[in-house]
Amino acid sequence: MKNKNKKGLYLPVDAKINDVIDLTPDVKLYKLRKPQSFFYSPGQFVMASIWGAGEVPISITSTSEIHQDIELCIRKAGFVTSALHRLNPGDSIGIRGPLGNRFPFEDAYGKDVLFIAGGIGIAPLRSLINLVIEKRKNFGKIALIYGSKTPTEVLFMPETQNWKENGIDLTLTIDVECKEWECSFGLVTEHINRQSISFESGYAFICGPHVMINAAMHDLSLLGMPAENIITTIEAHMKCGVGKCGHCYSDGRYVCTDGPVFSYAEIREFGMASP
Ligand SMILES: Cc1cc2nc3c(=O)[nH]c(=O)nc-3n(C[C@H](O)[C@H](O)[C@H](O)COP(=O)(O)OP(=O)(O)OC[C@H]3O[C@@H](n4cnc5c(N)ncnc54)[C@H](O)[C@@H]3O)c2cc1C
Ligand code: FES
Repeated sequence: MKNKNKKGLYLPVDAKINDVIDLTPDVKLYKLRKPQSFFYSPGQFVMASIWGAGEVPISITSTSEIHQDIELCIRKAGFVTSALHRLNPGDSIGIRGPLGNRFPFEDAYGKDVLFIAGGIGIAPLRSLINLVIEKRKNFGKIALIYGSKTPTEVLFMPETQNWKENGIDLTLTIDVECKEWECSFGLVTEHINRQSISFESGYAFICGPHVMINAAMHDLSLLGMPAENIITTIEAHMKCGVGKCGHCYSDGRYVCTDGPVFSYAEIREFGMASP
């Protein structure tokens, strides 16, 4: 997606926080007033900054066709994200972007779609899931396997029920059995072969921890899904986000500009460090 606001790629623009929602003890959803000429697509990210702390890459979790605000789902991981977590409605976050490529969802028109998310990986996928629901008639069967470690770590629980009501075959799973959980148990990969989608012609969109992504891509491939149809995001340490500093360089590609979305075929072809 072309960014018409070139300045916004290099200089942060102040985006006022309209609302902050605690999703779990260490994950917050930020609703930011959208700057002018900010056009984005699912899969893209921003560099989110706070004066005196720094700048970090964060995926856009909202869907421009649906949400008025730009929504960022931020897990408190270290120095910068902790500083971001101290901000309140009325404060501002600096944002540069939108950056990176996007999910090639039009390739999946007429086909079944399987979403696989682990942990905070639901954040970038949420942007696409809501768009796919909006364009529901363009797709075949749609399924989502979303795994978390514990019930308290499940993000967007009410929204997942809304997705189910909109025809998504939903598997919510947590790693280990516990009494207060009525959905599924086990790793997301244990649920892949139970999905009633066509693996031979369908598409998969995967986001989550590296180990989960690797295992899911491998399993989907064994089930007959073409490597071109298996789409994932790669995380890398980033500084500039615009292909200049080299921090995210991996096997001939810049994750910030060539990615962060890649197919399994590309990852194998370029021998990129597995996501
Ligand atoms: C394209 C992209 C999209 C992302 N989207 C989101 C998102 O939607 N929500 C979210 O909460 N996080 C997201 N991340 C991860 C987020 O950028 C890191 O958690 C953040 O940079 C950590 O910064 P910090 O200063 O708080 O932590 P630091 O103090 O720098 O480090 C804390 C820990 O986080 C690790 N870390 C630092 N940078 C990264 C990184 N880029 N990727 C993975 N681990 C890192 C460090 O190795 C360390 O273990 C994304 C990363 C990328 C590359
Ligand atoms: S983050 Fe600087 S080149 Fe990608």
